[in-house]
Amino acid sequence: MTTISTFGADRAAALLAHPDLVPPPAEAGASDGLAWLRANVARFASDERHERYRGQVEELLGRMEPERLRMRAAELARQVVYGGEVVEGAPGGVDVMAAIAREVPVRVLAEALGIGQVAGSGGSTGDERPASAECADGVGSAKGMEGVEGVEVAAVRAVAAGYLTGEATEERDAAVESLVAACGGAHDEVTAAKIGLLVQACEATAALIGNTLAAMLRDSARSAEIAVAAELRSNPPVRATVRLAASAIEVQPPLGAGNRFQAKVPSDIGLSPSGSAEGSALALPLAGRADERSVAGGVLLAPGDLVRISLSDGPHTLPFGAGPHACPGRDQAIAIAIGVCEALRHTRLLTTPIEYEPLPNLRIPTRLEVTS
Ligand code: HEM
Repeated sequence: MTTISTFGADRAAALLAHPDLVPPPAEAGASDGLAWLRANVARFASDERHERYRGQVEELLGRMEPERLRMRAAELARQVVYGGEVVEGAPGGVDVMAAIAREVPVRVLAEALGIGQVAGSGGSTGDERPASAECADGVGSAKGMEGVEGVEVAAVRAVAAGYLTGEATEERDAAVESLVAACGGAHDEVTAAKIGLLVQACEATAALIGNTLAAMLRDSARSAEIAVAAELRSNPPVRATVRLAASAIEVQPPLGAGNRFQAKVPSDIGLSPSGSAEGSALALPLAGRADERSVAGGVLLAPGDLVRISLSDGPHTLPFGAGPHACPGRDQAIAIAIGVCEALRHTRLLTTPIEYEPLPNLRIPTRLEVTS
């Protein structure tokens, strides 16, 4: 039986820095597919392995210039809305969520990482741009984004849907393999790091873009920069994360907080198998039922117990997490979101009211139609 305790965001920074609370680990040993990816990325690793994978991720991200990402994201978003192409599924306008919010961040990052083949189309990402023919497998281009070929965003989304849960399907395994092929075909750590970045970025950045745009188009006096910052402060897309107790631990509630933690059963923890890399599906990695546990004055965690940590409630907000696993893509994500929102600033919002995906840990509009 697995025990789950839920903590508010006021405890998040301390809990996420606790050395014995680790991300639910991925099983090692697979040579390909989703299991291989999960076993080789920072997101599920701890200790020395995490340090090594994290170093690789930081190096890849460190080579990107946020300002260039912003400009390229704006250019691609503009192409979709003002490029004159009819965009599928949007009779009156463009559905930003389907055509831009997920597409653009993945494409901009893939280009910057040198994945896939990118044909020239003006606004360059300079020396970050790839041009290797051997990376062309499994690539395609998004409607409305002229001259751009890169990874299939659908493949990134398919992987993202099983990334946190580890639930492999033929489609997800095949999607990982198509991304490996787009990276040159080697199942090595750098390839895993690149794919991991795309998967982590996809839904979370789409959510940040969708939420910011929805707010911004109602109050167009705000600049994209201010709107993104305000959204991160008041309405961050990733609502919670999960850690597993690696040993027996007693976690004390914060001084003066009383019994502010709650222990909950999994109906509230997001067990749906579908979801995204960060935030939407936080699945139990262990077999068996979950139960609640609370101890007056603190929470006693046994090895293998799970802790659900809110990243946003009341005045406490950690939009990019905290501790050793805090989001390393913060600056890049903000730059891309600003670029897209800036480009769409003068569009008109057609979708009202806005509905949200029924995901417990990610706030993301289902549809956001705009017209130029
Ligand atoms: C360019 C886009 C992005 C990239 C490349 C990216 C990359 C990553 C990576 C690689 C990790 C795992 C780090 C580790 O475990 O050491 C991570 C974690 C995280 N990301 Fe991002 N991310 C992006 C966008 C976002 C956005 C827009 C948000 C929300 C505002 C977000 C929120 C988080 C959070 C909360 C974590 C920590 C999860 C945890 O501690 O369990 N990320 N990100």
